[in-house]
Amino acid sequence: MSLACFITDCGGIQNVTRVLIPDDDLVFEVRDMDLVTAAQQLPSMDDVEEKVCIEINTLLKQVRYKKPATLASADLLAVGKQIASQQRVMAQACEVPTECEFRPQWHIAPPQGLLNDPNGFVFHNGQYHLFYQWSPYSCEHKDKYWAHIVSKDLLGWQRQPLALTPSDWFDSHGVFSGHAVSNGDELMLFYTGNTRIGEQRDRHTTQCLAVSADGVTFDKKGPVVATLPPQVTPHCRDPKVFYHSNEWLMLLGAQREDMRGRLAVYKSNNLHDWHYHGLYGEEMGDLGYMWECPDMFQLNGRWVALIGPQGIESTSPHHTVPHHNGYFDVEWSDGQSMTFSGFKNLDHGFDFYAPQTLATPDGRRVLIGWMGLPDEINQPSIDNGWVHQLTCLRELTYQGDRLIQRPLQELKSMQGAVEEFELNDASRDLGTKSFELKVELQWGSELALFKGSHHELKITLDADIRSLRLDRSQTLIREGDQIRELPLSSSTVTLHILADSSSVELFINDGEYVMSSRVFTPLNATNITLSGCATFSFWRLALPKLNSASSNLKGCE
Ligand code: FRU
Repeated sequence: MSLACFITDCGGIQNVTRVLIPDDDLVFEVRDMDLVTAAQQLPSMDDVEEKVCIEINTLLKQVRYKKPATLASADLLAVGKQIASQQRVMAQACEVPTECEFRPQWHIAPPQGLLNDPNGFVFHNGQYHLFYQWSPYSCEHKDKYWAHIVSKDLLGWQRQPLALTPSDWFDSHGVFSGHAVSNGDELMLFYTGNTRIGEQRDRHTTQCLAVSADGVTFDKKGPVVATLPPQVTPHCRDPKVFYHSNEWLMLLGAQREDMRGRLAVYKSNNLHDWHYHGLYGEEMGDLGYMWECPDMFQLNGRWVALIGPQGIESTSPHHTVPHHNGYFDVEWSDGQSMTFSGFKNLDHGFDFYAPQTLATPDGRRVLIGWMGLPDEINQPSIDNGWVHQLTCLRELTYQGDRLIQRPLQELKSMQGAVEEFELNDASRDLGTKSFELKVELQWGSELALFKGSHHELKITLDADIRSLRLDRSQTLIREGDQIRELPLSSSTVTLHILADSSSVELFINDGEYVMSSRVFTPLNATNITLSGCATFSFWRLALPKLNSASSNLKGCE
């Protein structure tokens, strides 16, 4: 049955904001209830080929019909395309960056609205593609889009048209996170379609596919995994797809019905037809109630999985955030099943979550994460209509028993001339908040960054407890933890610091540990102070000018 007559009843396609298909119904959500001409009627037994309106819900602005038996999926996708084109036009106004003193100079941040997870990070047909979760209209988590940027060199990024909008019956409350696969000339995006049904907002999740032939426009194919794995709640999302032992695997972050986080695995031979393989992670016991955003790759001969376990209690009283991040080792048996062991944190700062990695053509494993956390939004930048940014790009290696993270070597092209200076219980005005510093500190030293008359970020090497303490209590912080402590056993501590307006990334002891944090201080808080004595190498950081054909994002958009 054609959808046109339903849409006419709902005030025309311009008035339709969402389509939903809960169970045996077909629901249209509208902008303006006054334009709806549908009238509620009582369903009868023999009306399957009819247009039968069974509910008009003014609270949800939804008109509910019985689902006709012959509804064609191509017709539904066509309606999705029409809604998508309206959403693209509306979102254009949000693509103009607002003025804000906290905007990064070289990190990726949204022009307006809220950014969260990086998505679909991949090298495809000669360039790098990166997408991110974007809520364009407000600084809140709502109906996520996939924004799209590309780069030839992992330094300058150019904005592309929006890749995916929440336009279809399977993703209309959010095109949630996922990964990309470069499959010949096709760029394939696997993501979670999120919908909320009814006044109780029941969550429905499916794993969906969108394909692009030109790397710019994406054609949604709909759900490729339409039902939940056995014993898994609707918290099942964030597909990572990779090739292993002659087949494609899809990993999903999942919550089992007993409220334990696990990884669900699906398999495929052609990237379109998927079958359930199993639930993994039993040997990890209770490691939170949900594992989000899995990634998995081989590095220096080891297999590693990244996950975001939620519901973890920290041993530190300063650490109140239940959303952690980390990795474990993966052991394959017969190339078929996996055993996990040895969970370790990936980042020890305040703001780090949902990282993704890609392999560069020259064989390096590069990571980017969200410099934010699921429950934190009240940051000073919301006054200017945007919130959150991504981390810098980091190169990973596996050494000894841990993942080592170092700033991507390409980032060196942002360095101005090096300045070497010594501080001995003294201060220095760096004249900028976007800089790189390298220093080796003795235990007992205290370094303050972003220092102004009333604000600073304090890094203390506490000799008594052999811990590095990062303290952002003297900043413009509005919510969230203020202190992190990291035990270290080295005889001195080397810091490689990347700062950018309102963020800092500390690479400790040559990348053995990393602490990523948003730090809001006034624009003129550009001093550093050291209690103790050390020699610093300092560079101002700025993106190199690109050739005239490309418009640089200046990290801000
Ligand atoms: C992680 C996450 C993902 C989800 C996405 C929605 O931050 O909750 O699990 O797909 O964000 O934006």
